Amino acid sequence: MTTESRKQARVAVVGGGVIGLAVAWRAAVAGHAVTLFDPEPAAGASWVAGGMLAPVAEAWPGEEAVLELGEESLAQWPQFADELTTDGADPVMNTAGTIIAAWDPGDAAQLEVLADYLRRVGRGAELVHGHELRKRVPGLTSRLRAGLVVPGDLAVDNRRLLKALLLAGERRGVDYRREWVEAVGPGTVRTESGEFDCDEVVLAAGARTGALHDELRGLVRPLKGEILRLRARRTSLPPPPMTVRAVVENRPLYLVPRSDGEVVVGATQYEAGFDETVAAGGVRELLDAAERVYPSVAEYELAETAAGLRSASTDNLPLIGRLSDGVIVATGHYRNGLLHAPVTARAVVALLDGGELPGAARAADPARVEKEASV
Ligand code: GLY
Repeated sequence: MTTESRKQARVAVVGGGVIGLAVAWRAAVAGHAVTLFDPEPAAGASWVAGGMLAPVAEAWPGEEAVLELGEESLAQWPQFADELTTDGADPVMNTAGTIIAAWDPGDAAQLEVLADYLRRVGRGAELVHGHELRKRVPGLTSRLRAGLVVPGDLAVDNRRLLKALLLAGERRGVDYRREWVEAVGPGTVRTESGEFDCDEVVLAAGARTGALHDELRGLVRPLKGEILRLRARRTSLPPPPMTVRAVVENRPLYLVPRSDGEVVVGATQYEAGFDETVAAGGVRELLDAAERVYPSVAEYELAETAAGLRSASTDNLPLIGRLSDGVIVATGHYRNGLLHAPVTARAVVALLDGGELPGAARAADPARVEKEASV
C-alpha cells in the first residue's frame, strides 16, 4: 500500500474503551474512514477507572520507559482535552495535583523508596511530614506519618471523557458497530454478522486483545480492580480538592474527587482471570483504608461499587505498534490507560499515516516482547 493510499485508509478499531475511542477519533480527524467495533463502547475498565493522570505517583524503579511514556502523554493532555472539548465535550480535568500519604512507618519507608528513585531519575517530589499534608487537605486524619507532594500529577473525569470521545468520534464520522469481533486478519474483521473489509485493523480491546491475534498470546492478561463511588452528603465534609493517594499497611489507595461531589475510591488489584464480580472483601478493604485516611467518608453515601479489568503486559509497558501487515495493536496499558490515551492515539495515527512510532512510544513496540521471548 502506498503512503498516499494510507492517508485515506479504511480503519477498523476493535474495542471501545478509552484507547479505542481515542484512536478512532484521532484517526478520523486525520482523514481516515473509521469503523469501531464494540457491543458496548465507553464501558469496561475505562468506565470503572479512577481517572488519574499520574506518571510520577505510578513510577517505580525499573519502569523508566513507563514513566517517560506517561510524562510524554501527560504533556499532550491539555491540548487533547481542548480539542476534545471543541469536537465533543469537556472531559473535565482536575489540575489541583496529587498528594501521597503514608499510614504507618512501613508505608513511609515505601514512599521514601519512591522519593529516592524519583530523585535518582531527576524528578523532584517533595517528601513532607503528615501534618504538612493536612495543611493541603484538612480532612485527612492526623495519624499520617509522611507524604509526598506531586503537583504535576493530574486527573480527569473518566466518564465525561468517554462520553466526550464517543461524541467527538461521531461528529468526525466514526461508524460505531455494536457487535463483538470474533477474529481478525490482515484487511478483515469477522463479527457475528459477517466479514468487514478494511486496510488496517487496530486491536484495542484491552484485556481481551490477547485472544485476537496469535502474536499476542500470553502477552496480555486481565488484572482485576474494584472501585467505590462515594457521594458527599449535605452534612458531611466535602471531598478532598485534589487526588489523595495513600499507602495503608502496604496497600495502595486513592481518592479521586469529581466536580459533582463524588469521590472515586480505588482500587484493589489482583489476578482473577476475567471475573468482574465486585467481591465483598474488596469493598471492605477499600472502605476501611479510605476511612482511616479521610475519616469523613464514613458519612458519605455509598453510591456505587464496580469492578473492571485492566489489561496488563508482561513488563507494565503497553504494547503499541504494528503486529503484522495491516494489523496494529494498542493495549496492555496496565494502570495507565487514561493517562496514555493521547500518546497512544498519536502513535497509532502515525502508523496509519505510514510513519514510525514517535517519541517515547518507540519503547512500547511489541517487537520488544517477542525478542525477549525468543532469547
Ligand atoms: N490507574 C489506577 C488503577 O488502575 O487502579
